[in-house]
Amino acid sequence: MKKMLDLVVVENNKLNQNYCLLKLSTPDKSVLPEMYPGQFVEIRVVDSPTTFLRRPISVNFVDKLKNELWLLVQVVGDGTRKMSEYKTGTIVNLLLPLGNQFSTPEKHQQELLLVGGGVGTAPMLYLGAILKESGFNPKFLLGARSSKDLLQLDDFAQYGQVYTTTEDGSHGQKGFVTNHSILENIKFDRVYTCGPKPMMMAVANYAHKNQIECEVSLENTMACGFGVCLCCVEDTKHNGNVCVCTEGPVFNIKDLKWIS
Ligand SMILES: Cc1cc2nc3c(=O)[nH]c(=O)nc-3n(C[C@H](O)[C@H](O)[C@H](O)COP(=O)(O)OP(=O)(O)OC[C@H]3O[C@@H](n4cnc5c(N)ncnc54)[C@H](O)[C@@H]3O)c2cc1C
Ligand code: FES
Repeated sequence: MKKMLDLVVVENNKLNQNYCLLKLSTPDKSVLPEMYPGQFVEIRVVDSPTTFLRRPISVNFVDKLKNELWLLVQVVGDGTRKMSEYKTGTIVNLLLPLGNQFSTPEKHQQELLLVGGGVGTAPMLYLGAILKESGFNPKFLLGARSSKDLLQLDDFAQYGQVYTTTEDGSHGQKGFVTNHSILENIKFDRVYTCGPKPMMMAVANYAHKNQIECEVSLENTMACGFGVCLCCVEDTKHNGNVCVCTEGPVFNIKDLKWIS
């Protein structure tokens, strides 16, 4: 059940020139609503003429002990720039939680691979944490342009083995995530992915070719976030055009038209 909530910024960590990690909590110490991996929030950004629409940001992590919601923000325009400037104590209005969630497999012996590229690594941290909590040993494959763009590696390492690729070879294997040798060396049962569309399509192709279950989290441009404006539609195999904000953002690749 989605709610509109005012949350307070308890920390804003600048991770590098383009990314920050916002930690938010309730101002009155009430418990945050339940949120699941793959879901997102819509943030209202005030004091800017170009941001009258809320901005969608994935749930990066929920620290239940500290009652904190973490959001990983990449600065690309006015809205995300404003977010990166939030000071401790800033009150932010959010609509949450939105969208569906990644599924959890039933059998514990499954080999699970979580692939993230760029800011698409954001939902993979919480997914990894929940999978670990449910008894799995997920593996993470994280891709970036260069080592300085690989974020939260210590956090990921708490929940599973971390493999990396960088385009310039400054960390892990050189190239794209789909070139990493782990894809040849381990037989995975299920792959989850989020990142730039070409990367997700390449991961989806790898999964399809190898008959691996695969879920992708789409980042279609959104406005309302709850199925009213229709600006986020994706043409699917079985249900025609669907709103990614309500039917997704997580889809099994069997439902997408990416693979014939
Ligand atoms: C479900 C979902 C989850 C997301 N999760 C995160 C997240 O965890 N962290 C994060 O930093 N960003 C995330 N995004 C992307 C984020 O919403 C956009 O980057 C943001 O809305 C841009 O707002 P802006 O005002 O800064 O930039 P704008 O001025 O609105 O746009 C600046 C540039 O970014 C491009 N852009 C805008 N929206 C998107 C989009 N959805 N995807 C790709 N490019 C876009 C525009 O085309 C333009 O070129 C997510 C998007 C979706 C749909
Ligand atoms: S964002 Fe408005 S319908 Fe999906």
